[in-house]
Amino acid sequence: NIPQYVKIVEVGPRDGLQNEKKMVPTHVKVELIQRLAAAGLPVVEATSFVSPKWVPQLADAKAVMATVSSFGKGRFPVLVPNLKGFEAAISSGAKEVAIFAAASESFSQANINCSIDQSLERYREVCEAALQQDVPVRGYISCVVGCPIEGPVSPQQVAYVAKELLKLGCYEISLGDTIGVGTPGTIVPMLEAVMEVVPTEKLAVHFHDTYGQALSNITVALQDSTGCVQMQMGVAAVDSSVAGLGGCPYAKGASGNVATEDVVYLLNGLGVQSNVDFGKILSAGEFISQQLGRQSGSKTAVALSRS
Ligand code: HMG
Ligand code: MG
Repeated sequence: NIPQYVKIVEVGPRDGLQNEKKMVPTHVKVELIQRLAAAGLPVVEATSFVSPKWVPQLADAKAVMATVSSFGKGRFPVLVPNLKGFEAAISSGAKEVAIFAAASESFSQANINCSIDQSLERYREVCEAALQQDVPVRGYISCVVGCPIEGPVSPQQVAYVAKELLKLGCYEISLGDTIGVGTPGTIVPMLEAVMEVVPTEKLAVHFHDTYGQALSNITVALQDSTGCVQMQMGVAAVDSSVAGLGGCPYAKGASGNVATEDVVYLLNGLGVQSNVDFGKILSAGEFISQQLGRQSGSKTAVALSRS
């Protein structure tokens, strides 16, 4: 048994483009976001209000949001690492934000230059400000099964961070296999531990496809108990990136997030609704791949372009 509807959270313009070597002009980012929303994606993560020294690819966050916030339809959340980022995001027109913690200490230090508990303190300030202004906050956890520095990460550590993010008021918690090392063998016990402390309907999965495991991992995350010993998953929100955009600075040769086109193909095959127009998502992927001057990272897009 699987959910009848799965919400796809498109993260290409943010998670994808933050890791692309090539700098993408602001107007191209805006057109990409517009095409993704027009394809029916209910949520398109637009950019990040982070330090431009750390992520120069998204240094135009303000300019991107200035246009995107005027789009009539769609939700366009942005990442914020601290109160400074939150304030910049809101004054640029963002109506939703996402905070991002890690399940591994070393990754937290490498990514946001502070410990896990320090990051949760920063995020408390962000969430207090957000809740006062009725701004929904999504929470991410990185390295939910493996860390590029520490190796395997325990399910209990993920559950600890998830519980803290829930207490801060996050409406949804996205579980990130940042370096794409997970298989159903590690993803299932991690989800079971998190589901002890966070209701399933508040969970999303965010898989990078480095080892080619993302679609298998999504499938087990969607399935509920029927027929599967020990599995009580039933997650109904999946993050993905058009054309499989992105790489990972921490994993050599890493491919990006699982491709949105491939997730839509999977869901269509399972008879699960996502309300995404397959033709329009394929052409959005073609558009950005052409702009980047490289082949799409979506296997579905490549297969269909050959035929
Ligand atoms: P820091 O250097 O420790 O911060 O960075 P600081 O407070 O000492 O400030 C240093 C400088 O940054 C100052 O400027 C600040 O004003 C500025 P200076 O005085 O040197 O000119 N600054 C900012 N500028 C713009 N916007 C801000 C901001 N904050 C400070 N919000 C910090 C700490 C968190 C800022 C930094 O480490 C950072 O920006 N990190 C972002 C890293 C990032 O974006 N990583 C990728 C996203 S996470 C991800 O991809 C994983 C995910 O996809 C899930 C998964 O796959 O697992 C979500
Ligand atoms: Mg990611």
